[in-house]
Amino acid sequence: MAIEDVDVRRFVTWKIFPVALVVGTIWYYRQKGVTFKSLKRKLAAIVIVNIMARFNKSTDVVATKKRLFSNLEEQKTNRSQKLQILEIGVGGGANFTFYPPGSQVVCLDPNPNFKSYIQQSIEESNVEMKRFIQGFAEKLETVEDDSIDSVVCSMVLCSVRDLDKTMSEVRRVLKPDGTFYFIEHVAAKQGTCLNRVQRWLNPIWYCLSGDCQINKETGKAINRAGFSQTSLNYLKLNTYVFVIRPILWGTATK
Ligand SMILES: C[S@@+](CC[C@H](N)C(=O)[O-])C[C@H]1O[C@@H](n2cnc3c(N)ncnc32)[C@H](O)[C@@H]1O
Repeated sequence: MAIEDVDVRRFVTWKIFPVALVVGTIWYYRQKGVTFKSLKRKLAAIVIVNIMARFNKSTDVVATKKRLFSNLEEQKTNRSQKLQILEIGVGGGANFTFYPPGSQVVCLDPNPNFKSYIQQSIEESNVEMKRFIQGFAEKLETVEDDSIDSVVCSMVLCSVRDLDKTMSEVRRVLKPDGTFYFIEHVAAKQGTCLNRVQRWLNPIWYCLSGDCQINKETGKAINRAGFSQTSLNYLKLNTYVFVIRPILWGTATK
């Protein structure tokens, strides 16, 4: 074989072929409607479900959620109807096991790839899914005013862009005397070493995690939202990543 032929073969094998393979693969998946964004969302759903499964198994988290949701049943305003719950940033539906049997859950999440996980959680619990809304906490436009008995946020408010807008939407959709239940990781007390670390680390954390922020002043946003009654409690989880401490949990009544 001539030297030129060997060079051509090498060029085709090591340059043309890999490039053609990559371009061809991208073209094939684009034809099928798969984009980088949709792949990222699929991957995010898998990662979140697995990370949250670990978090939600922690003894402290289970005990806190049991306490938090213990009076959910009493929230039913109309005895003939089923308890209407809106879970914002529902993820894979890890909280359904804490809801009273027969509750109807409106599930909201920007990522539609959670649907199959939600379906599985529905089958493993005694609740019904009323509908799935693909949307954001700041814009609950398809949920009517005064229509929900209880709104739930668990490990979601760290990711919302506008806490005040979210709180105002939560109040709008809650029935009079309806209750907002939350369990969220928040910024540590101002002036503490942990608070400073959270502020330094936040830009990197935000980029790596996608949209989670470790220095959110969620308690302040809940307090200034105009709820008639609030109960804010703090839990220090010793077993989890130290920068996502403390955990704020409690209720706010419309
Ligand atoms: C850490 S996961 C928590 C999932 C679930 N609540 C749980 O406790 O297992 C955060 C969830 O919030 C959703 N999310 C992110 N930004 C949001 C926003 N602006 N509005 C509503 N949900 C959002 C994500 O898609 C994800 O499902």
